[in-house]
Amino acid sequence: MFKLANSHRSIRSFTSQNIDDALLNDLLLTGLRSSSSGNMQTWSVIVTRDEAQKRNLYELHGEQQMVLEAPLVLTFCADVFRMREWIRVNNSKQSFDDLLGFLTGTVDATIAAQTISLTAESIGLGICYMGTTWWAADQIIELLELPQGVFPVTSLVIGHPAENPPLRDRLPIEVMVHQEKYQRLSDAEIRAAHADREEKAWARYNAIESVRTKIADAGITKVTDYYTSDFKYPKALHQRISKMLMATLQAQGLWL
Ligand SMILES: Cc1cc2nc3c(=O)[nH]c(=O)nc-3n(C[C@H](O)[C@H](O)[C@H](O)COP(=O)(O)O)c2cc1C
Repeated sequence: MFKLANSHRSIRSFTSQNIDDALLNDLLLTGLRSSSSGNMQTWSVIVTRDEAQKRNLYELHGEQQMVLEAPLVLTFCADVFRMREWIRVNNSKQSFDDLLGFLTGTVDATIAAQTISLTAESIGLGICYMGTTWWAADQIIELLELPQGVFPVTSLVIGHPAENPPLRDRLPIEVMVHQEKYQRLSDAEIRAAHADREEKAWARYNAIESVRTKIADAGITKVTDYYTSDFKYPKALHQRISKMLMATLQAQGLWL
């Protein structure tokens, strides 16, 4: 387990080899075995294998090629709908249609996704998460016909790896782990902790021809500039998506 967890790399390129129904079922069952808040299992997963539906998801996930290449796309959702339906058929007092219900489901769904990820990796499959799930949540809800109380929180592509990328850098444990209370870092400590990342990430981005040209033309000279530039995670985009998420949570009955 230590070896497995310490050798994780996201895989974004896949062979055409399929994942059969029996294996998929076994993988999904490990997700169901995960911890969940109050054992309510307030999550659901939508399996996408159909080529036409994968193409629809590809468009919603910012045209990431791995969506088309992977034999399997899993969309993990916070789901208080099923719990509320159970309450309804029993004529019990209703609840969970609120932000706390959504957050509870989000944690349940994410834990299940990670269990399935590790299990898949343990048998040599490759996985990659897609944060674009938040970015297109409103359209994913429509495409996958998610009822009120269900909200997409993360997605995974899973398949047989067609690449063998090196391990990505990580921040040092000292800045991630705090003993008893949160320890703020000095400017010098922040710089030291991120030095390796600044060098490696800058080299990685500059190795991609299209990115190198864009960042050079925009006068970007540091990784942190790139992160908040129009090419990666600009503030305006964050605000637009945040507003959409608030409105969509409201529309899905998961706000208050
Ligand atoms: C919530 C989440 C969302 C992510 N979204 C994307 C994505 O949309 N596209 C992508 O190529 N990688 C995505 N990743 C993968 C990260 O880029 C990757 O985990 C990170 O760069 C570290 O690399 P590693 O997983 O290979 O160690 C995502 C990862 C997480 C946990």
